[in-house]
Amino acid sequence: METQQSSKVVSFLYDLAYRLGISPWDLGKPMDELVDLIEGDKSLPAGRAIDLGCGAGTKSIYLARQGWKVTGVDISGQALTHARTRTAEAGVDVDYIQADLLNMPSELAERRFDFLLDFGCAHNLRNTAKAAYAQATAGIAAPGATLYLYAFTRGPQSVTRKQIHTDFAPYWNLVSAEPGSIRRWPDAGPFWYRMQLRE
Ligand SMILES: C[S@@+](CC[C@H](N)C(=O)[O-])C[C@H]1O[C@@H](n2cnc3c(N)ncnc32)[C@H](O)[C@@H]1O
Repeated sequence: METQQSSKVVSFLYDLAYRLGISPWDLGKPMDELVDLIEGDKSLPAGRAIDLGCGAGTKSIYLARQGWKVTGVDISGQALTHARTRTAEAGVDVDYIQADLLNMPSELAERRFDFLLDFGCAHNLRNTAKAAYAQATAGIAAPGATLYLYAFTRGPQSVTRKQIHTDFAPYWNLVSAEPGSIRRWPDAGPFWYRMQLRE
């Protein structure tokens, strides 16, 4: 049964949430797992990054501060209003674009991102749209690019291991799958999936 909402409903609900200041997914700082990937012993070299479903820009700002050239994309205009304000206050540059990632803007294909971050975006998508999303993200990725995707694995909003193997695997090699450190109640089993663009 299809339980995910359409993109219009998603944008309406997120606009409302951001307008009301309800964004429990935004801790105001990046998660430890992301910090480790960007700053740890085996950190990725800074290059072009895209924050897929960037919300109010917390992770975009973090990446920009770490020397990445960042593009943030979100379907919610209200989220981007917050993101632009916060980015200006932080004194960094991020290029924000309002778009539905299921209808990928062609200008993004020219940028060829080395790092694609998806923190809680893909798990909003309809199950029938996940393969198209995987293909679309591959279409804007540079050779050898990393896709780092955080998603619930249980419940109506999720990206399951099975979907990684069916929908993402044609475009992305799974490198690792690790439980997310931040839990909520009821536990929706958050996971970080690290993937690399197939050659
Ligand atoms: C759970 S929030 C996470 C926001 C942000 N990544 C963060 O960590 O604060 C999911 C975000 O994805 C955006 N989103 C959902 N579906 C989208 C789509 N089809 N295209 C673009 N953005 C989308 C929502 O507007 C929302 O800002």
